[in-house]
Amino acid sequence: MHDQPKFIPQRGTDFFADGRSARPQVEHTVARGQLHEDEYFYTGLVDGKEQDAMPFPVTMTVLERGQERFNVYCTPCHSRVGNGAGMIVQRGYKPAGNFHDPKRLAEPLSHYFYVMSNGYGAMPDYSAQLPPADRWAVAAYIRALQLSQNATTADVPQGTQVEPLSSIAEQEGLPAAYAGAWAMPETAVSAKPTGRVAAGAPEEDQAAPASKNHSPMNPETSPAGTKNTSPAAAGSTH
Ligand code: HEC
Repeated sequence: MHDQPKFIPQRGTDFFADGRSARPQVEHTVARGQLHEDEYFYTGLVDGKEQDAMPFPVTMTVLERGQERFNVYCTPCHSRVGNGAGMIVQRGYKPAGNFHDPKRLAEPLSHYFYVMSNGYGAMPDYSAQLPPADRWAVAAYIRALQLSQNATTADVPQGTQVEPLSSIAEQEGLPAAYAGAWAMPETAVSAKPTGRVAAGAPEEDQAAPASKNHSPMNPETSPAGTKNTSPAAAGSTH
């Protein structure tokens, strides 16, 4: 085997006229499993345009899969409720999109598929982590999230008693803020404030109180005197 004629990866050959040993796909052929006939399923586009439709029926199983994948891949930046104030953003990443602002609510469904497939601005794409069916499941789940955060008492079946979150917080001895709107915490440090997310995000890094901890991703914004060096102090903020 050592001596037999063979092509070594990345090496040329004089057997083929173009000198390449690695052969390109034969024209007008498609590799098995790569036909991708359903263009909308694979691209989220019809004639280059995003559409407000799922390419397959949404069942409870699809939504549960979407929720599970969303919680794994999207919550670090977009948070569990999708308001764009996830933990990585709180630690200095560019504010991620809030799925509940009017602009995003108005986006057609396949916009979400498209963003996951191709990335968007500072957001990387998730096509390697999420095969197309999963991207659609996540998109469907985002719609469910949008409903959940914009529901009114009229959406609850008649006769069902709705208990305000504030009374639940009181009963459970939770702070009143538990029931309030969830904005970017003061400790959030945005590398480039864009004003696109959450009320409460500091407009300028300097606007954040000097005593607060600054993101390790932004060492230049941390005034030298406020660096946490003691393990006790570091632990208390996490
Ligand atoms: C590493 C952080 C990060 C993760 C993880 C992440 N995103 Fe994002 N996402 C962002 C940022 C940052 C933006 C805003 C991009 C910009 O404006 O440059 C954004 C924007 C978006 C937008 C808004 C696009 C628009 O029209 O404005 C959508 C939709 C979106 N993300 C979906 C997702 C989904 C779905 C996932 C999970 C598969 C996900 N993102 C995971 C950081 C992230």
